[in-house]
Amino acid sequence: MTDPYSLTVNGTDHQVVDAWLGESLLYVLRERLGLPGSKAGCEQGECGSCSVIVDGSLECACLILAAAAVGCDITTVEGLQPGRGDFTTVQEAFIAEGAVQCGFCTPGLVVALTDLLARVPHPSDLEVREAISGNLCRCTGYGRILAAAQAAAKAASDE
Ligand code: FES
Ligand code: FES
Repeated sequence: MTDPYSLTVNGTDHQVVDAWLGESLLYVLRERLGLPGSKAGCEQGECGSCSVIVDGSLECACLILAAAAVGCDITTVEGLQPGRGDFTTVQEAFIAEGAVQCGFCTPGLVVALTDLLARVPHPSDLEVREAISGNLCRCTGYGRILAAAQAAAKAASDE
């Protein structure tokens, strides 16, 4: 066990106690802090289901040691909403465009596209494809997700 440490997640400081130093950020978010929105898919940095934003950068939470994220500003899919029960522009677009697929890939896709639109408000289809190239779905397709990305960009520019 390591000494207790603190993580700043979604604007709130969380104490992590009785943890092993080798625990991933994904494990700590899900199993210790009660934030299951980031999904454990491959746990090898391949599928994007665990996508989080760390100090403004899109990252795979499964590849980061939680103890190494002390002092970082971490945002999970739970932290994107303006308020409890509210949806973000990206989430609204996913619903409207029929892009909500399974619970494993969708949170990571929402985080990845939120990150993209924060950096590139009017992305091309190629930029959207590149942004979600690390988010894998083996079951359906990407057509509705691409449509949702463009709908979210348009909705954001109309606000
Ligand atoms: Fe982290 Fe798949 S669980 S990339
Ligand atoms: Fe989510 Fe395929 S992995 S629908």
